[in-house]
Amino acid sequence: MDTKIVYRELSKEDKDQYRCLLTEVTQTLQRKDFFIPPPGFADNLFVEGYARSIGAFDNDKLIGIATLLLEQNQKYKEKLDASDKKVCELGNYLVAEQYRGQGIIQVLQSKLLEIAKQLNFDIVMATVHPDNISSLKTLQKELEIVKTFEIEDGIERFLMRKNIIRTVDGK
Ligand SMILES: CC(C)(COP(=O)(O)OP(=O)(O)OC[C@H]1O[C@@H](n2cnc3c(N)ncnc32)[C@H](O)[C@@H]1OP(=O)(O)O)[C@@H](O)C(=O)NCCC(=O)NCCS
Repeated sequence: MDTKIVYRELSKEDKDQYRCLLTEVTQTLQRKDFFIPPPGFADNLFVEGYARSIGAFDNDKLIGIATLLLEQNQKYKEKLDASDKKVCELGNYLVAEQYRGQGIIQVLQSKLLEIAKQLNFDIVMATVHPDNISSLKTLQKELEIVKTFEIEDGIERFLMRKNIIRTVDGK
């Protein structure tokens, strides 16, 4: 595909485009248990302090997104044995079908990891369905699997983590 993809952080002005992408991807999901956004997710995403999202754009059209959730989720912190640590979560990995297979999600993920470092988080976590190969492979480039658990009856997730290492000069 001969296209120039532009990456930038999302703002409230991108909310409608995000809703379109979310609808498109969820309607065409191979497996509904791969991505289960909680109620009100599309609105919460744009609330100050809740999350930071990077989008991939083709001619100003949002065709991919990934998000760093900044909220501290106590339940996961306990599972990670990290109650005293600052933990953020990678997720909301969505790429429009016709743009898949070009490594777009990996670019988005690395930009979010930079943000996590700048914001002084200690640990970046993620959860992923064990059969969601493209998402799992991307996460495994940076994070490692800690354990398997069920989010609902019969719906499995790997819990993954990466410790953010800082050098003395903070970089
Ligand atoms: C997950 C998703 C965002 C990945 O987008 P993408 O940018 O197209 O990712 P890629 O196709 O480049 O795949 C990522 C990696 O998985 C590998 N991969 C994909 N399918 C594979 C398969 N069937 N077998 C082996 N490896 C596979 C790719 O080769 C790539 O690895 P590489 O970077 O080492 O080459 C996209 O598939 C999507 O939107 N899925 C639906 C929504 C979803 O499930 N989101 C995750 C839940 S949060």
